[in-house]
Amino acid sequence: MAERILMTNGKLKVTDNPIIPFIEGDGVGRDIWKNAQAIFDKAVEVAYGGQRRIEWQEFLAGKKAFDKTGEWLPQETLEAIRESLVAIKGPLETPVGGGIRSLNVALRQELDLYACVRPVRYFEGVASPLKEPEKTDITIFRENTEDIYAGIEWEAGTVDVERVITFFQTEMNVDKIRFPKSSSIGIKPISIEGSKRLIRSAIDYALKNNLKKVTLVHKGNIQKFTEGGFRKWGYEVAEEEYKEEMLAGHLEVNDIIADNFLQQILLNPEKFDVVALTNLNGDYASDALAAQVGGIGISPGANINYQTGHAIFEATHGTAPDIADQDRANPCSILLSGCMLLEYIGWSEAAELIISSIEKNFKSGIFTADLAFGKRAYSTSGFSNQILSII
Ligand code: NAI
Repeated sequence: MAERILMTNGKLKVTDNPIIPFIEGDGVGRDIWKNAQAIFDKAVEVAYGGQRRIEWQEFLAGKKAFDKTGEWLPQETLEAIRESLVAIKGPLETPVGGGIRSLNVALRQELDLYACVRPVRYFEGVASPLKEPEKTDITIFRENTEDIYAGIEWEAGTVDVERVITFFQTEMNVDKIRFPKSSSIGIKPISIEGSKRLIRSAIDYALKNNLKKVTLVHKGNIQKFTEGGFRKWGYEVAEEEYKEEMLAGHLEVNDIIADNFLQQILLNPEKFDVVALTNLNGDYASDALAAQVGGIGISPGANINYQTGHAIFEATHGTAPDIADQDRANPCSILLSGCMLLEYIGWSEAAELIISSIEKNFKSGIFTADLAFGKRAYSTSGFSNQILSII
């Protein structure tokens, strides 16, 4: 009988027939999900000789939800993910004007999914702007709940911003706001708890995957207490909780200033295994790194709370309205996100079958249009059928 995944004593409890909610997604979500689901099912069946099977349950969000229920993010969907812990989603159309600012942000906030995890690796055969793209194999841990993204800001010219600026000037002796009459103000909260739980997750991931280096990326040279705090608290976590691993030579924690990091990922990407970043820096670095190895169509991601077990795996690209419903989209982002999900629930053998099939596709020159560059382009279903035939 299908059962929900549970978290007991800090560990996920997954039966052979777990219930996993999925959100198909809008636009190309319709093209990629149906192909991906068939691939996940085949990989699980082959890897475990029919012993295991995922019970997929569809829940609505985005435009599809709005058209059917009048709501962009129905409560039922949130509750299903809250109860089932682990879910996967395609891209969602962002409502224009009013209401929810971003459905993805709403999901992350509701479930306190504090770690945005993005593994970035190169697949042989994929076009890259780098000379030696195979040297890029980096997992990003981006803090997901704090920083300038907390949405605490006031618009220039409003009564509210005037009150905030007056408070700074009169109560806090701030005299460095260059143009106080015409400034907008944003607040950047970075906490000890928020930084430590993210960095702890990055270190745990590194140790679990036999990766040695964890690098704290920050702008602490300028933003002493926020970015500098992130760096300081990161070293504290390492010293207080992972001393043994460091002494045994299994773990090395270092740091780098964010601008230098953006240079080094181009010049010497092999210097990094796992990197931990604050929210805004992590946003920039995620896209820069994804572009190094083939871009948007093949980069997977997940938003995770390692303490509660809640995790949403997702295609990192948008709904691609320009190619939606044309069977042209690259399914690799959702496929590789699904592989992260399988690894997360401990079903690595199934994930490996999918990853090695994608590798074989690329090595034999089988690409969707975004990566074909003038060569024969396979459709979403053509590319996916090749994978199904290899597994
Ligand atoms: P987009 O990622 O949808 O498209 C950017 C470009 O990349 C387009 O040329 C598109 O054709 C291409 N592309 C994207 N995914 C692809 C795939 N799987 N295979 C091949 N090519 C692909 O970004 P855009 O146009 O800025 O956003 C469109 C909609 O998606 C908006 O409503 C936006 O809010 C939403 N969006 C949702 C995200 C999510 O749910 N995670 C993330 C980003 C955008």
